[in-house]
Amino acid sequence: QKNVAIILAAGQGKRMNTKMPKQYLLLEQKPILYYTIKNFQENSLIDEIILVTEEKYIEYCNLELKEKYKFNKITSIIPGGKERYESVYNALKMIDDAGCVLIHDGARPFISTEVINKLLVAVNEYKACVVGVKSKDTIKIVNDNQIVDNTPNRSSVYIIQTPQVFEYKIIRKAYDEYMSHMSCFVTDDSMVLEMLGTHPIKVIEGEYTNIKITTPEDLIIAEKILNSLK
Ligand code: CTP
Ligand code: MG
Repeated sequence: QKNVAIILAAGQGKRMNTKMPKQYLLLEQKPILYYTIKNFQENSLIDEIILVTEEKYIEYCNLELKEKYKFNKITSIIPGGKERYESVYNALKMIDDAGCVLIHDGARPFISTEVINKLLVAVNEYKACVVGVKSKDTIKIVNDNQIVDNTPNRSSVYIIQTPQVFEYKIIRKAYDEYMSHMSCFVTDDSMVLEMLGTHPIKVIEGEYTNIKITTPEDLIIAEKILNSLK
């Protein structure tokens, strides 16, 4: 059965505060999104890529990414929604059959083949798995008045990244349910499944280099990481 990667690039990058959304900014002459897609295009375990972007960037993605770099695993480039979960749902609805789906942020260009492959092995056993790294910092839960509420034990605090990988049927069902009730605001895909409480979600140890480019200083770090990978 097919492994389908959903690459999310429909955000506006408000925290980056540039004219073009951050995924189209250039790193060494190529859009950030180029590096992201390349990691899935060149992985032999990935069969198909669905790229989600804003309507007005669909043509750009087709010509400047898919055609230009011969990303022939991209089977569709579709419009996203206002929120991340809407973009994900648009892509899930495009799929009529797949074994696994890997949902990945377009703004994470440095996901390695090793980590993708580790996730694909794990998903066979666990049906749902996410990638994360141990927090290097102490995390505190802070209340509305900026007063510390509590401090979770650092060894059990993970920074969760993407890809988040699921058996297609399971995540599709969870999203169908979520979209019809919208019980709370979700910031990742795992949360949608966590709310159902039907499947445990396995955390796979990832890499600190798999950053999400979010604010301007991340671009400085991204350039260093890119150079270190050469
Ligand atoms: N994303 C998306 N559709 C949305 C919102 C986000 O496809 N409606 C994508 C982004 O393009 C990004 C990923 O989800 O690749 C992670 O989101 P985030 O880092 O929050 O990106 P933005 O929403 O673009 O940035 P910001 O929150 O600063 O506006
Ligand atoms: Mg966002």
